[in-house]
Amino acid sequence: MSASLRWCSQPTRGLHGALRIPGDKSISHRAIMLAALAEGVSSIDGFLEGEDTRATARAFSRMGVQIEAPSSARRVVHGVGLHGLKAADGPIDCGNAGTGMRLLTGLLAGQAFDSRLVGDASLSRRPMHRVIEPLARMGARISAADGGLPPLHIRGGCSLHGARHEPAVASAQVKSAILLAGLYAQGTTEVYEVQPTRDYTERMLEAFGWPIEFGSGWARLEDGHRLQATDVSVPADFSSAAFFLVAASIVPGSQLLLHAVGMNPRRTGLLGVLRLMGADIREENHRTQGGEPVADLRVRSAALHGVDVPESLVADMIDEFPVLFVAAAAADGTTRISGAPELRVKESDRLAMMARGLAALGVHIEEHADGAVIQGGRIAAGQVESAGDHRIAMAFCVAGLVAEGPVAIDDCSNVATSFPGFVDLANGCGFAIR
Ligand code: S3P
Repeated sequence: MSASLRWCSQPTRGLHGALRIPGDKSISHRAIMLAALAEGVSSIDGFLEGEDTRATARAFSRMGVQIEAPSSARRVVHGVGLHGLKAADGPIDCGNAGTGMRLLTGLLAGQAFDSRLVGDASLSRRPMHRVIEPLARMGARISAADGGLPPLHIRGGCSLHGARHEPAVASAQVKSAILLAGLYAQGTTEVYEVQPTRDYTERMLEAFGWPIEFGSGWARLEDGHRLQATDVSVPADFSSAAFFLVAASIVPGSQLLLHAVGMNPRRTGLLGVLRLMGADIREENHRTQGGEPVADLRVRSAALHGVDVPESLVADMIDEFPVLFVAAAAADGTTRISGAPELRVKESDRLAMMARGLAALGVHIEEHADGAVIQGGRIAAGQVESAGDHRIAMAFCVAGLVAEGPVAIDDCSNVATSFPGFVDLANGCGFAIR
């Protein structure tokens, strides 16, 4: 795959169809991890065939876990039990995946052997101090490169002890790293969050039979239990669905139906914001799938107007800002985003990249330290950079739909990290991406 893969997204008329979006990335990572540490054979359906989640599966194969792939989006994991992993025969490559690296750091801190975690250029710039510091307070010994950056060296054979944690950033990755270390830590491990974040680790530990207490913004568990194999059914990833929710909202004459999308309330903040902007998105056929709420989403085009994005929704839509910026650029009036400095330490500095890209498309945008002010109305043709960030690349594909001419987007190969088949699915419903 070439780092310079360039896509060109062209204006189009209406988007139509019924789509199945690939499986949830966060849940797919966790399903592999817990199934690997469980006793017995687990099957995972709806597994995301993305590069990030495949890197996590590869990591466990290299630590002695047999993982079969009988068909696409399915994995059968022969769990080795909590203490059954073996040292990999070299560094573990987490690719582009912050979730993979941060959760593995917690889990590997409790092993008997040393591990080394490496990542690609983007992951190698992402802060790891946020997991190293709380894990060190539990007795872990982890060293990083200068500035707390990967690669990470995790010492084995440390005896961990439980602790009470109040992380300064609202981060499900930090919370999950702590809880996974907590499986190996003597006593009680507790996390209290500044804002509630996605609770997939908590729900999945429960599904694998580990006693855990949790509620909105807190979780508590103790050591001394076992994980029992179970079957996991992964819903469609709301963050991938988000590109189609915005696309169909802003392209006049569109109507899309998205099947069985994960509706965990800690993920669906964008729905609230799009509705405040005037979007017409209906939830149909609410049900649960593998312990997670899912629904079919029917979206019709609507005239969007700018809003002040409530800061209380930021954590619940943390991955959706690139595409929200595009919705704001296509809307009438001003959208204000604040309270989102975390966007600077994602796969790219998403505030900077979206501000630079939209400005290149003639949109009036002011970048702030923790957000932006976007003047909507008109998007011109032009050329933008994605900085190898999958969500920036897909967001600008959506911008191209309503631009005055083609939008060329550089460096799109990393879309495969989270959304394999994006171009085919998008073009199948009316996008025009070359
Ligand atoms: C994730 C948590 C979020 C999110 C990321 C996936 C997870 O990161 O942005 O895409 O699976 O726990 P932070 O924990 O850094 O907010």
